[in-house]
Amino acid sequence: MLSSPARLAVFVSGTGRSLENLIARAGDLPATIELVVANRPCRGEELACEAGIKTKVISGELSEAELSELARVHDLDLIVLAGYLKMIPVPGSLEGRIVNIHPALLPAFGGPGMYGNRVHEAVLESARRGEVTESGCTVHLCDAQYDTGEILIQRKCPVLPTDTPQTLAARVFEEELIAYPLALKSLIRSLPRRSAGS
Ligand code: GRF
Repeated sequence: MLSSPARLAVFVSGTGRSLENLIARAGDLPATIELVVANRPCRGEELACEAGIKTKVISGELSEAELSELARVHDLDLIVLAGYLKMIPVPGSLEGRIVNIHPALLPAFGGPGMYGNRVHEAVLESARRGEVTESGCTVHLCDAQYDTGEILIQRKCPVLPTDTPQTLAARVFEEELIAYPLALKSLIRSLPRRSAGS
């Protein structure tokens, strides 16, 4: 168990809505956001600056060595992906310590290219074919592929016949606002303290 607040880095590529939620819920979480990494200048990075959080823009995909070094330098316990659109490696030292949130009920509607409205469009097509009546969100650990790691929490919501990708996305996002802090809280409780230098 961690004896002090977990040190998080949040990775963003866009509007940073999940980051904003985590900043707003900071008081409920046994964690501090030490760093925000963006792969390009974006609203998420601006939000972090406004909140007084250290930010870094690193374009391109990070290598295992770069990610391990970032975790070591900032003494990170967890890396939290929040709308980060680059593939991320999972070095051995960070196994079980990189988390993502996906706006659908994995394993369905995940994988390369499935992000943003593309996910909700695919769910709506499937609903029109009578295959699904619900969507939701999934918080999961990251492994070497997109959207396939161990599932920590899922929250569901209905898909309505009148939905557009935008209305469905908004309903799913309401669940994300609850799911991410919940999942992080329980993951942080279960984390062993990293040994120095590992
Ligand atoms: C969320 O819908 C989340 O499921 C996905 O990225 C979205 C947040 O990104 N991983 P952003 O904050 O809107 O850029």
